[in-house]
Amino acid sequence: MSGTEQKVALVTGAARGIGLATAQLMAEDGWRIALLDRDEPALKEAAANFKGEAISLLHDVSDPQAAPQAIRETLNAFGRIDALVNNAGVADFGPIEETDFTRWRTVMETNLDGVFLMSQAAIPALKETKGAIVNIASISGLRASTLRVAYGTSKAAVIQLTRQQAAELGEYGIRANAVCPGPVRTKLAMAVHTQDIIDAYHDAIPLNRYGSEREIGEVVAFLCGPKASYVTGQIIAADGGFESTGVGLPALRAT
Ligand SMILES: NC(=O)c1ccc[n+]([C@@H]2O[C@H](COP(=O)([O-])OP(=O)(O)OC[C@H]3O[C@@H](n4cnc5c(N)ncnc54)[C@H](O)[C@@H]3O)[C@@H](O)[C@H]2O)c1
Repeated sequence: MSGTEQKVALVTGAARGIGLATAQLMAEDGWRIALLDRDEPALKEAAANFKGEAISLLHDVSDPQAAPQAIRETLNAFGRIDALVNNAGVADFGPIEETDFTRWRTVMETNLDGVFLMSQAAIPALKETKGAIVNIASISGLRASTLRVAYGTSKAAVIQLTRQQAAELGEYGIRANAVCPGPVRTKLAMAVHTQDIIDAYHDAIPLNRYGSEREIGEVVAFLCGPKASYVTGQIIAADGGFESTGVGLPALRAT
């Protein structure tokens, strides 16, 4: 395949964690990657160790000026965009009554506004390639819980945004899907998961463990690629079975 035919993915929040693992996995599958992040030292380190063809884009997805610029830079470097992975996210766990508007907005501006802004800016390029959007939501967008009024609501909104995108962009051949990761030991999760929370997750998840960054990346890569060519508007939990458990009372278990 010649350089210009080689597919291009723009991955946000790609300096570490799930975004970096996804970008690396897709590069191994032959994609050219635009790594976008707002953390300059982490982005430099990720780019230096990256195996594959990549450019770095230092931007904050919550800045409305950033998205069109990031798309321009990607098109200038690679000439096309086949997939947008909206992965950049922040977590802030706290009781409802302590979640003031500033904390609420901090979560919303990255987790929800960022996905909207990046997607809007990418639409013309994605129309050209009949490309794909994959939004990283969360099990917190599927199941309500304490301490995450802003985070959970932002992720539920991303799920609905994904469906809106699928409904309206399908006529251009653009697919939009969301992946809802269960717990993964990234910097984001470890900042808010105490040992008690980790133990409780293990207990509640049928596969009895956290997922890895790469296990999430595999699902994202599938949804970006041609094997998912008839899949759009889907919300796929990669969560070890957590979402499927329903009435998951420990007292109802056989063991
Ligand atoms: N780790 C988990 O347990 C878990 C579970 C469910 C969902 N998720 C979601 O997965 C995604 C990735 O999370 P992670 O765990 O890899 O986190 P992480 O903190 O390791 O990585 C997130 C990356 O996004 C970047 N980022 C954050 N805000 C940004 C912004 N406004 N503009 C540009 N870059 C920004 C950070 O600098 C960082 O490099 C997030 O959307 C998160 O909500 C994670």
